[in-house]
Amino acid sequence: MIQKGTKIAPAEGKLGVLLVGLGAVSTTFIAGVESIKKERAKPIGSLTQMGTIRLGKRTENNSPKIRDFVPLASLKDMVFGSWDIFQDDAYQAAKKAGVLKPEDLESVRSELEAIQPMKAVFSKDYVKKLDGPHVKKGANKKELAAQLIQDITSFKENNNLNRLVVIWCGSTEVFQKPGPVHESLAAFEKGLENNDPTIPPSMIYAYAALKLGVPFANGAPNLCVDTKALQELAHRTGTPIVGKDFKTGQTLMKTIIAPGLRARMLGLRGWFSTNILGNRDGEVLDDPGSFKTKEESKLGVLDTILQPKLNPDLYGNLFHKVCINYYPPRGDDKEGWDNIDIFGWLGYPMQIKIDFLCKDSILAAPIVLDLVLFLDLAKRSGMKGTQEWFSFYFKSPMTAAGLYPEHNLFIQEMKLKNTLRYLMGEEQITHLGLEYYS
Ligand SMILES: NC(=O)c1ccc[n+]([C@@H]2O[C@H](COP(=O)([O-])OP(=O)(O)OC[C@H]3O[C@@H](n4cnc5c(N)ncnc54)[C@H](O)[C@@H]3O)[C@@H](O)[C@H]2O)c1
Repeated sequence: MIQKGTKIAPAEGKLGVLLVGLGAVSTTFIAGVESIKKERAKPIGSLTQMGTIRLGKRTENNSPKIRDFVPLASLKDMVFGSWDIFQDDAYQAAKKAGVLKPEDLESVRSELEAIQPMKAVFSKDYVKKLDGPHVKKGANKKELAAQLIQDITSFKENNNLNRLVVIWCGSTEVFQKPGPVHESLAAFEKGLENNDPTIPPSMIYAYAALKLGVPFANGAPNLCVDTKALQELAHRTGTPIVGKDFKTGQTLMKTIIAPGLRARMLGLRGWFSTNILGNRDGEVLDDPGSFKTKEESKLGVLDTILQPKLNPDLYGNLFHKVCINYYPPRGDDKEGWDNIDIFGWLGYPMQIKIDFLCKDSILAAPIVLDLVLFLDLAKRSGMKGTQEWFSFYFKSPMTAAGLYPEHNLFIQEMKLKNTLRYLMGEEQITHLGLEYYS
């Protein structure tokens, strides 16, 4: 276990940020960082940039900005790169994604045009609704992994980087459960050689990054780095890993509201969630295999918040349903409806309706920024393997084997901030507060 107040290497030099997939989330993230660097915009939604952290007693009035409390890399030291199955540079890709207004893209056009994606490791077997020409060839998956390792190494050398982070912002791959090839690193490496079909591209990217000791985050719900084999590799190379599935629109709301209902012992009979979205992510999720991966990720959150086994009268008979419908006219502007059937005193029924007109990538971009900066911090702090304190950012947080994940956003926030306090040698905040009255 990492020591309290551990020695953290300084954030010196440049930090490479390699994004797998140059779609809506990645381009909105990069364009946003470039705009913020030019002081055209504020980093809204980013805890690392705007968040504060209380230290000591409430009477001390000491709540510095998180970025002033922990040694994070500076935005101006970030260098972006990516892989995609399409050749479009980041400007063209951002235009096609249609998230940001033309005037916002024009102001960072040259920075975006400079980002040309590298050829991807891709197979239609894992994302049925996509196909593209900008794809690597190799005799087997081991060779493809070697090509990715070469890409990462060259990117580091060519840009004179000190450190790197890799984030999967690629499409959601088809549903998969862990199998024999994911049980150990040895089995996985054999599988790479034998072209094992249960090794999708996302795992090959993760393997390449971890081999080089580069921290890796998985923003999609597919299995990817959440396997014993890749955990073993992360431990061997001293590398932090996090996932899965950015917690943005509807699930973010769910993990804000459900803890409140549970805290006040209000019952839940049903939670019906439906979405329409029209971006490429929506198109990919129109395939039942990719949808199944997303569905599992979205359905998991209520159980551990409500704990129906502990509260059978309140939550033992809950019907939870999630639908996603691909509806092109809306583009990235998702609409998520929730109908929540609750009950109160004497079992009297009530309803809550939520209609969240959100912008998916606008909610995801600050998460990517925080993941990059906190993963780099974790690496410099000597943390390795699964980092549960990142659960704040994910729909399906990765945890140690046998441990259920915390989905309650407020527990997740406390866990994250207490981890930062611990790293910096500060006291944990328990919110007991009796001492104010003694
Ligand atoms: N936007 C959100 O709020 C949100 C929330 C949670 C999860 N996610 C997940 O994040 C991911 C990205 O979302 P998006 O809206 O940017 O999707 P997108 O479709 O706009 O972008 C994904 C990009 O990945 C590329 N790609 C697919 N497979 C690849 C591979 N093997 N190698 C390299 N590139 C590959 C695609 O060509 C595409 O450009 C998706 O998996 C999505 O489910 C997004």
